[in-house]
Order: sequence, then structure tokens, then C-alpha cells
Amino acid sequence: MTTLEELKQKVEECKKCGLYKTRKKVVFGSGDEKSKIMFIGEAPGRNEDEQGEPFVGRAGQFLNQLLKEANLKREEIYITNILKCRPPNNRDPTEEEIKMCSPYLDKQLTIIRPKVIITLGNYSTKYILKKFGKTPESISRIHGEVYHVKNLLFDMKIIPSYHPAAALYNPNMKQVIINDFKKIKKEIGDDKR
Ligand code: URA
Ligand code: SF4
Repeated sequence: MTTLEELKQKVEECKKCGLYKTRKKVVFGSGDEKSKIMFIGEAPGRNEDEQGEPFVGRAGQFLNQLLKEANLKREEIYITNILKCRPPNNRDPTEEEIKMCSPYLDKQLTIIRPKVIITLGNYSTKYILKKFGKTPESISRIHGEVYHVKNLLFDMKIIPSYHPAAALYNPNMKQVIINDFKKIKKEIGDDKR
């Protein structure tokens, strides 16, 4: 079976969609690969593209604050995105890009086997809910809800959240997201590995 490190090396050479032409660095994902808790964002932004690490820019700073609310440390979770390369000017991911890149996320899921997935924003929420046979609805309706998945490979919870960047554009959103992360804390308990 492929290890996460082998997969990372493969993704760093990927040219399956057009984003390879404009990326500086592939952002594969980081954190504790033995963690039971996985966060899935959308795509790298400018800072992530430069550093090759997920959520290191302004949205990442707010995410760090949110993790504190949930009594989590960055090194206790695994964090990645649907797209591993930055879309130019941070435009939305296209369907084609998601189709090309999501098999890598699927592989990460089968290697890490999380017990809790927190999806950040509409794109990862839709992708993950659909993948696990749930009806994808708008994030404004389902943020903070807990979906249970039980099948041959997975026995876990999926908790959709707004994307942390949403609070940067709309300050009213901040408290809504903080409240969701308080809920996430309850759902996770002390069972992090
Ligand atoms: N936004 C994301 O969705 N992912 C990142 O890694 C950074 C910002
Ligand atoms: Fe490959 Fe994904 Fe990057 Fe596209 S976004 S080049 S599919 S790693």
C-alpha cells in the first residue's frame, strides 16, 4: 500500500490539471498522519502556494484561533485541501480541477482513516457529503451539523463548517464559526489519536 510520503512525492510532480502551470509549490497537506481528526479546505492561496503548507495566511491565522476554541493544536490534526495547487487569483475551483485532484484526497482519506472530518467551506462540504452518500446542501443550512457515516472502510462523523476566510470578509460570521467550533470540541472529546 502507498504511504502518505509516497503519495506526497507523486502529487508534487502532478500535471493532471492546468494549475500545475501557475503553482509555485504543491500544498499536499500537513499535520499528524495518525490523527483521527481531518480538516479539509478548498485550495491553497498565495501564502500557501509560496510555502507549500496549508492554511498559513490570514484564513490560517483565524483557523488557529478556532482550533483553540475546539481545544485542538495544529500538530494534533491533519489538514489538507481539495485542490493541491493554487487557482490563479484565488478563483473558485472548477469541476474539472476537482475531478482531477480529488483522487489524491480520497487516497489521503483511506491512509489516514479519520474518525472526524471537518469540511471548511462549500466546496469540500459538497465533495465529502456526496462521496459518503449524503445530500449536499448549502453550507449556510448545514454548518455545525453532524453527519454519521458507517461503511466497510469508515466509521466517522462529518461536520461541515463555514470556511474561516468567510469571517475575514464578514465580521458577523466570526461568532457563528466560533460557535460551530465549540460544537466540534464536544463531538471530538479527548479522542484525538
Ligand atoms: N484556504 C483554503 O481553503 N486552504 C488553504 O490552505 C488556505 C486558504
Ligand atoms: Fe495535479 Fe491537483 Fe495540482 Fe491539478 S491541482 S496539477 S490535479 S495536484
